[in-house]
Amino acid sequence: MAPLDDAPSGSLKVRVKRKIYPASGVREAQPVLKDIAIDIEPRSFVVITGPSGCGKSTLLNIIAGLDKDYEGEVVLGGADTKVGYIFQSPRLLPWRTVGQNIALALPDGDPRHGRIDETLRQVGLEGFASQYPERLSLGMQRRAALARGFISEPDVLLMDEPFVSLDDPTAQGLRELLIGLWNRRPTTVVFITHDRTEAVMLGTRILRMSGANATIVQDETVRLSPSERTDRDKVLAEQQRIFRET
Ligand SMILES: Nc1ncnc2c1ncn2[C@@H]1O[C@H](COP(=O)(O)OP(=O)(O)OP(=O)(O)O)[C@@H](O)[C@H]1O
Ligand SMILES: [Mg+2]
Repeated sequence: MAPLDDAPSGSLKVRVKRKIYPASGVREAQPVLKDIAIDIEPRSFVVITGPSGCGKSTLLNIIAGLDKDYEGEVVLGGADTKVGYIFQSPRLLPWRTVGQNIALALPDGDPRHGRIDETLRQVGLEGFASQYPERLSLGMQRRAALARGFISEPDVLLMDEPFVSLDDPTAQGLRELLIGLWNRRPTTVVFITHDRTEAVMLGTRILRMSGANATIVQDETVRLSPSERTDRDKVLAEQQRIFRET
């Protein structure tokens, strides 16, 4: 992703005219994305939603700069803008402790190394710094991944279905945690989910993708105040408004 010094820090301009996975072996070339144009304001929480296989992770990898094989451009606003990526699987290194895994997100000598215990406390993992990831449940590993994503205070945070395959209360707890962390320090977030309730609860803006060769078919601002986001009825009403015709 190309940085642009005169665009506001934390803003994102995403243009994907075309993304095609090339043919390989017996598999034909597969067009996945077309004509995507998204401008993201700094400190907005953008949720991208759409059916399985429509190209959400492909788009996030392009935004992250992990996939450069596409037609278009991604421009990141501001000099020295830091980007964090929280993957669908927690991706903790099994041979490092939880604390060491989180430390990996920081450069050597960074004063924020002193904040690891405090960050673990914020995600409900107080006292787990010296444990190895295999001793943690999936939900706890997800929380550790959140701590790792947040400790380096990225200006742009990309999250790919970070709460799937958790039971409802655990996922809900992590969503409320994320809302709390984001309210305390709003950063630009691009969050992928196919869960519509989650989309409405978290997002300030929802983009819906659809189609075999997918593009953005809906772009909505979420009309919920921070306190309404944990109110189940308000969230459901807003979900019905946004997704009524689908
Ligand atoms: N490396 C790859 N090579 C070829 N095709 C791929 C590759 N990665 C993904 N695809 C194909 O591109 C399409 C979009 O995949 P992608 O993983 O982006 O979907 P998704 O919306 O994230 O799905 P899910 O909700 O299941 O995670 C799928 O049809 C998939 O088979
Ligand atoms: Mg995906």
